[in-house]
Amino acid sequence: MEGSRIPRHVAVIMDGNGRWAKKRLLPRGAGHKAGMNRMIALSEHIFDRGVTFCTLYALSTENLSRPKEELDGLYALFREYFPRNTQTLKKKNITLKVIGDRALLPADVVRLICEGEALTAGGTRGTLLLAIGYGGRQDILSAVNAAVRQGREVGMEEFSAMLSTGDIPEPDLLIRTGGEVRLSNFLLWQSAYSELYFTDVLFPDFSDKELDRALEVYAGRERRFGKI
Ligand code: IPE
Ligand code: IPE
Ligand code: MG
Repeated sequence: MEGSRIPRHVAVIMDGNGRWAKKRLLPRGAGHKAGMNRMIALSEHIFDRGVTFCTLYALSTENLSRPKEELDGLYALFREYFPRNTQTLKKKNITLKVIGDRALLPADVVRLICEGEALTAGGTRGTLLLAIGYGGRQDILSAVNAAVRQGREVGMEEFSAMLSTGDIPEPDLLIRTGGEVRLSNFLLWQSAYSELYFTDVLFPDFSDKELDRALEVYAGRERRFGKI
């Protein structure tokens, strides 16, 4: 039945934390904290809906040029929430994988990432990919350079597997919250045939119900992949 189609892989550009805080006359960091709480709850709900892969865009390569104060606040939130949350993922049998350029992140944050990945490795219920310090162009470029180093041409599937998403299937549904209608350097190669869903809802307000609405819209879409 068309209406019961569940996407295998949902990717979310979690945008609008700053504006959420501004609306409430709060500092931007309060928006990031609210966004972090929402992200944790949403990442549980999404797997309960039968989705197997979920990629969350938390920090782009370009976001790393934001003021130091904002980045320090984001890293502090990460240090506070990440270890506890990886324990939860472990209990829920979900594998965590972090994509992005780790050389751009503080050393202790990278250490927490490695520990979280090691703790949750082998979880069979689903895979949560967290994109931190991630850029789609950078992802493609590093795969190109890896192929160049090997000194040979590569095929389409082989190239896909060389990206940071590896053998994870491409996103079926790509959601962006916060009202902007652009990809902002998210999974550029991988989203070639993703269904796009844009909503004005700011990320901290993107409730489980809002996710269900997106899933419903997805279920009603006809995917043609260029065919008739
Ligand atoms: C998205 O929210 C989260 C990050 C990029 C870290 P923003 O911080 O971009 O929020 P707005 O777009 O300014 O509202
Ligand atoms: C995209 O949001 C990146 C993340 C949500 C992680 P931005 O707020 O950085 O995007 P732009 O600058 O509006 O394109
Ligand atoms: Mg933004």
